[in-house]
Amino acid sequence: MTLVEGDVLDTDVSTLLGGKADAVLSDMAPDTTGTPSADQFRSARLCDELLDRLPGWLRLGGACVMKVFEGEAYPELLARASRAFERARGFKPAASRAESVEIFLICTGYLGETISGEGSSGHQLPRRPSGW
Ligand SMILES: C[S@@+](CC[C@H](N)C(=O)[O-])C[C@H]1O[C@@H](n2cnc3c(N)ncnc32)[C@H](O)[C@@H]1O
Repeated sequence: MTLVEGDVLDTDVSTLLGGKADAVLSDMAPDTTGTPSADQFRSARLCDELLDRLPGWLRLGGACVMKVFEGEAYPELLARASRAFERARGFKPAASRAESVEIFLICTGYLGETISGEGSSGHQLPRRPSGW
């Protein structure tokens, strides 16, 4: 097993893997600020950045599960995931505290997306400011 510690968004995952993965699982969450709307937005943005990288990381037909804080930006994230996968749905496991806004976005049957530049994927969430 190889353990790599660092910012996954700045890591050349496909080179580490030597190819594309069958599944990508993310339990990532941003450092919380105590402002729920900001935390929810940052969580959705993190997932959006993960989706940006899937063309290089995930094989067609593969699956992706990612933790996200459900909030204002979630419907747009779900809409994007629904375009990129055959099926995408939010799931709240029994093990997740009822008072937590965390859910898991379960996506199967990766269809691929063309990411050719800023804003090209059709999503509206702004880029990650430096320092996130
Ligand atoms: C809910 S915790 C995950 C806990 C982990 N599953 C465990 O059992 O220890 C969220 C984690 O996401 C990590 N994270 C957030 N953004 C990240 C990024 N861009 N790259 C790598 N890890 C990130 C944080 O450092 C934090 O440790």
